[in-house]
Amino acid sequence: MNFVVAYWTDLAAGLLAAAAVVVAANLVWTGPRTRLVVPLLAAGLAAVAVRGAVVGWMASLGWDFVARRVILDVPLAAVPTAVALGVALRARATTGRRLAITTAAAGTSLAALDQLLLTGWLVTVGLLAVALLGPALTLALLSDARGPVRWTATAAAALLALAVVVPLATSWWGSRLPGSFDLADYAPADDGGGPGGHAGHNAGGTSVDTLTGPRGGEPDVHYTLTASPLTVRTGSRTVQAVAFNGTVPGPQLEAREGDLVQVDVCNRGDRQGVTVHWHGVDVPNAEDGVAGVTQPVIRDGQCHTYRFRTEQAGTFWYHAHQASDEQVDRGLFGALVFRPTTQRAVEGMDLTVLDHAWRPPGGFLAGASWDAADAVERRPVPAGTPVRLRIVNTTNTPRSYRLAGTPFTLAAVDGGDLTGGAPVTRRSLTLAAGGRYDITFTMPGGPVALSGLADGVRAVLGSGTPPATSGSWPALDLLTYGRRGESPPEAQGPYDRDFRLVMDRKIAFAGGRPTYAWAVNGLTFPRMPMQMVREGDLVRIRFVNRSTADHPMHIHGHHLLVLSRNGKPATGAPWFTDTLNVAPGEDYAVAFRADNPGIWMDHCHNLQHAAVGFVMHLGYEGVTSPYRIGSDTGNNPE
Ligand code: C2O
Ligand code: CU
Repeated sequence: MNFVVAYWTDLAAGLLAAAAVVVAANLVWTGPRTRLVVPLLAAGLAAVAVRGAVVGWMASLGWDFVARRVILDVPLAAVPTAVALGVALRARATTGRRLAITTAAAGTSLAALDQLLLTGWLVTVGLLAVALLGPALTLALLSDARGPVRWTATAAAALLALAVVVPLATSWWGSRLPGSFDLADYAPADDGGGPGGHAGHNAGGTSVDTLTGPRGGEPDVHYTLTASPLTVRTGSRTVQAVAFNGTVPGPQLEAREGDLVQVDVCNRGDRQGVTVHWHGVDVPNAEDGVAGVTQPVIRDGQCHTYRFRTEQAGTFWYHAHQASDEQVDRGLFGALVFRPTTQRAVEGMDLTVLDHAWRPPGGFLAGASWDAADAVERRPVPAGTPVRLRIVNTTNTPRSYRLAGTPFTLAAVDGGDLTGGAPVTRRSLTLAAGGRYDITFTMPGGPVALSGLADGVRAVLGSGTPPATSGSWPALDLLTYGRRGESPPEAQGPYDRDFRLVMDRKIAFAGGRPTYAWAVNGLTFPRMPMQMVREGDLVRIRFVNRSTADHPMHIHGHHLLVLSRNGKPATGAPWFTDTLNVAPGEDYAVAFRADNPGIWMDHCHNLQHAAVGFVMHLGYEGVTSPYRIGSDTGNNPE
C-alpha cells in the first residue's frame, strides 16, 4: 500500500457508500423494490468498513493524515448506516424505518462531501453533482409527504442551501484581488508559538532595499547575463525560448568561496521582464531576485546589478523569478558552481548535468549540445580520473537517477557536503525539483551511464556499450546515509518557533474565480500563512503532505536541517537542504537558525503549483517591502 493508493481507495469507498445508501433511502420512500433496501445498506456499510481499514493503514503514517477521517468522516457515515441497517432488518414500512435510512443517506453524503471539498481531492463537476444529488433528491421526495415531515424537509433543504451559499459567497468576495497588492496584507501571520503582535510585513522599520550585499569594492568575479528571446531548433522542432547570453542553459557561473560576486543582469527583448534568483545561495535579501518582493522586475531595456559574497562552496543554480513557471521552462536558467578556497584548480573531471524538461524535453550536460535523435550525451574520460557529477534538477517533479558502471559516493546535497557517505552500487537517487546532488567516483576502465534524466536522455562517460540501468535499484535514503558525527546545533532545540504546515487540496476561489487550489493549513492563495520569526530564533517546521502530489518545499535564504520523516529521526550525515521533496503521505520535521533578515519566499518548487498560488513567505519581524505584485505592477514572481 502507498499513500496515493490509500487516498483514492478511501475516496472511492466513501462515494460508493453514499451512493448505495442514498439509493436505499429513495427506494424506501418511493415504494417498489424495497427488498433491495437491506442489501444496499449492507453494501454501504461494507464500503465504510473498507474506509475503516484504509484509514487504519494511513494512521501508521501519522495522526495528521487521518484526523479528519477518524473524527468526522468515518463515524458520520458508519454510525447512521449501521443503525439504519439494524432498523431495516427488523421493521417493514414504518416512518421510523424511512427516517433512519434517510439520516444514513444524509450522513454518508455529508461524509463524502467533506472528503471532496475540505480535505482535498480531485473534484469534477460530475462527482460533486453525485454527492449533492443524494440529499437533494431525498429531500425532494420527502416534500411529497405532509404535515411536520414536510416542514422538516423544507427547513433541512433551506439550511443545506444556506450552508452551501454563505461560505461560497464569503470566500468569493474575499478572494478578489486588486491590480496591485502586497501578499503579506492577505497572508495571516503565523507566529509559530513565539512572541508576535504585529501586522505582517508592513509593520517595522527595515526595508528589504537596505539588506544588500557589499556595495563597494572591486568584485572578484564579474558576469553579465543578458536575457533575450531565442529560437531553438532541436530535431524537427522549433521552440520559442528565452536565453541568457544566447544559450540554453545559460552560461555556468563560477566563483570561489569568499569571492565578491557581481552579476549585471540585462533584459534585451524579453517582454515578460526578468529577475534572477540564486537558488540555494544564502544571499542578503535585496539580492534574492524575487520580482515584487525584493526588487521590481527588470523591464525590456533595463539592467540590474546583483552583488553578494559567496559563503558556501558547492552546486547551485540561477533562474528567472519573474513569471518563473514559464520562463524557467523556456530556458532562463543556468548552473552556479562555487569552489572551496582550498581548491586551487579543478581536479579531474568536473561536470554539471542540468536536467530540464521543456518542450521538446531533454537533459543538458553543461557546455555540450544534445542531440534529440539519439538522446545520448557522450564524454570521453580516461580511466582513473576522479569525476564529480553535479546534477541539478530544473524540472517540476522529483527525478530518480541511476548511475551504472561504477560504485559512487553521494558527496553533497544542495550545495552542502555530506560527511562519511560510503560508496554504493545499484542505488537510485531521488532528487527534488530544484535540488542538487554531487556524485563522485573514480573513472573505471569501462563506460559509466547516468539514466533518469528528463525523457530518457542518457549521459555516458567513456567509450563502449553503456552499462544497463534496468532492474530493481532500491532508493538511497538520505535519512540514514553517511556518518552523523557531532550533532548540529539546529538538531538540539529548544525551538523558539514551531510551525506546522499541512498541505491539502481543496475547491476555493482565487482572484474571484473558482479553482481547485493548493491549501496550507486549509488556507489558499492569497491567504496562505506567513511564517513570522525574529533574527536569532531557532525555528522548527513540520511539512505534512496530505495531497496526492509531490511538493518540493523551497525556502529562500536559508538551509534546513532535516530532523525526521514520519517520526523516524535522521541518523545519517547531517542533511542540510534548501529544497526538500515532501512526497504524498510524508511528514518531515526540519530546523534552521533565522540568521538572514528579510522577507523570503517559501514556496513549492513545482513551479506550476507556485504559479497557481502555492506561495508563502518567511517574514522577519520589522522588515518591510516597498514592492508590490499584481496585474498593474508588472511584477509576477511565479
Ligand atoms: Cu528556485 Cu523561489 O526558487
Ligand atoms: Cu507543490
